[in-house]
Amino acid sequence: MKRKVWLAIPLLLLACNMARAEEAALPLAQYAHESSDTAEEMMQRLRRAIKKDLQRNGPASAMTVCKSAAPVIAQDLSHETGWPVKRVSLHPRNVKLATADEWETRVLQDFDKRAAKGEDPNNIEFGEVVNDAQGKSYRYMRAMWARAVCLDCHGAANYMRDGVQSKLKLEYPDAQSIEYRVGDVVGGVSIRRPL
Ligand code: HEC
Repeated sequence: MKRKVWLAIPLLLLACNMARAEEAALPLAQYAHESSDTAEEMMQRLRRAIKKDLQRNGPASAMTVCKSAAPVIAQDLSHETGWPVKRVSLHPRNVKLATADEWETRVLQDFDKRAAKGEDPNNIEFGEVVNDAQGKSYRYMRAMWARAVCLDCHGAANYMRDGVQSKLKLEYPDAQSIEYRVGDVVGGVSIRRPL
């Protein structure tokens, strides 16, 4: 019995080493780079859509753009890349669409800490290989941080104009997602690349 246990240890170590070697062979830098580009593209497209509508119709209307454009942009990018792309938050307005799962919650909590320590929010990102119920994948997240343009709808009450506050209260009575300041992490673009 004892001998069997002693035999099992080197075998286990060998298996661990093999798993690590397999991981090392994955082009992780390439995954990180491509995911980062995709997340950046998502945020740029969204900012462009919001800005255009803010200028044309004002913030109360742009609210609807943010709501309807974000899932379409995410879906377009999912089609273009073949990887599920979404936007999540620790304090989502849209609980159905944007609630973070366990992994995303952990990463977003870490993003908050990194932002609080003064890290450049443009660099706040994280990716790793995970093995979970959906199989083996490369999961990646990039911080969606508050710029001045975001405060119209995610900032303090005195930032909000033209009935935005009342419209937000009406549409999202339980979740406000407000009081963010420039540089705070509002949420993240989350990407899962099946391996
Ligand atoms: C004109 C109003 C408006 C502006 C400006 C705006 N948002 Fe939003 N944002 C919303 C609304 C409304 C939702 C909820 C959308 C939904 O129901 O899916 C939302 C949702 C989100 C979410 C997803 C989580 C959630 O709350 O459901 C993130 C992340 C987010 N916004 C980040 C930003 C960032 C970053 C900016 C600036 C680049 C920004 N938003 C600008 C109105 C706005």
